[in-house]
Amino acid sequence: MPEDPTRSPAGRPGSEILTASGVSVSFQTAAGARIDAVDAVDLGIHEGEFVSIIGPSGCGKSTLLRAFGGLTRLSSGTVTLDGERVVRPQPDKIAFVFQDYTLFPWRTVLANTVMGLQFRGVGRREREETARHFLQLVGLDWCAGSFPAELSGGMQQRVAIARALTMNPSVLLMDEPFGALDEQTRTLLGSELARIVEETGKTVVFVTHSLAEAVFLSDRVLVMSARPGQIKDVVEVPAQRPRDESFLTSEVFDRLRRRIFSSLIEEVHRQAAVNEEYRRAGTSDS
Ligand SMILES: Nc1ncnc2c1ncn2[C@@H]1O[C@H](COP(=O)(O)OP(=O)(O)O)[C@@H](O)[C@H]1O
Ligand SMILES: [Mg+2]
Repeated sequence: MPEDPTRSPAGRPGSEILTASGVSVSFQTAAGARIDAVDAVDLGIHEGEFVSIIGPSGCGKSTLLRAFGGLTRLSSGTVTLDGERVVRPQPDKIAFVFQDYTLFPWRTVLANTVMGLQFRGVGRREREETARHFLQLVGLDWCAGSFPAELSGGMQQRVAIARALTMNPSVLLMDEPFGALDEQTRTLLGSELARIVEETGKTVVFVTHSLAEAVFLSDRVLVMSARPGQIKDVVEVPAQRPRDESFLTSEVFDRLRRRIFSSLIEEVHRQAAVNEEYRRAGTSDS
């Protein structure tokens, strides 16, 4: 399949909604060592864009995502959303979905889904209506009265996604949201997420370990270097979204996945060396 040169700007709208300029984040470990997790990242994410971040374990992906969400203090640089500096969490504009589903086991699916709106002070009737709408969008309106323990991992994660969407954020930050799921469930949920993102027009920054997931879902895949994490490579995925599963067996898909893999594997080896150096210095942070 040739690259599609006609892909209209509608697929990649012009305006940048979320930006990072010179973003660095360092931590002090309990042992007193300094860990540079993210180093001088510059990035502009366009409205409606789906961007994945892939990189070796421990390279700073979650830290960068948290920086985008105002959840971590920057050592230098700035993050902006809609031109405004992000210095603290903004639950009405930026929603997080984490790997562990973070549902409250003693609350029903509906009661979990309304939580954000409840904190916001939205009345019961309105918040339940909104929650049901998004549960329907993720295909789970039929189990609104169930408890999380009665749901599979994939279903719990769909509830977490519905809960994030109730807040009507412009940006969804997702940190390995399907990391705890089996391969087949991941594939199904990936397609589902692609559809939901299409229907809601959200901007998504998505951290994943899965090359296939990254290529399948994204407009751009960012490869991060070994720590301190920098954006090493930016790979565009030149195919209209949302894609159907036939994309997974296409030549473009294969080519991109190989390209990202060779970029990533170098960094995986470098990160292993970095970890070893830390271990030998006796300041292992893991
Ligand atoms: N709050 C923290 N305090 C100290 N070190 C941290 C903290 N958060 C992350 N780190 C360290 O920063 C590095 C990057 O972590 P992280 O962003 O979680 O990596 P990734 O998500 O890519 O696996 C790791 O070495 C990790 O141990
Ligand atoms: Mg992480």
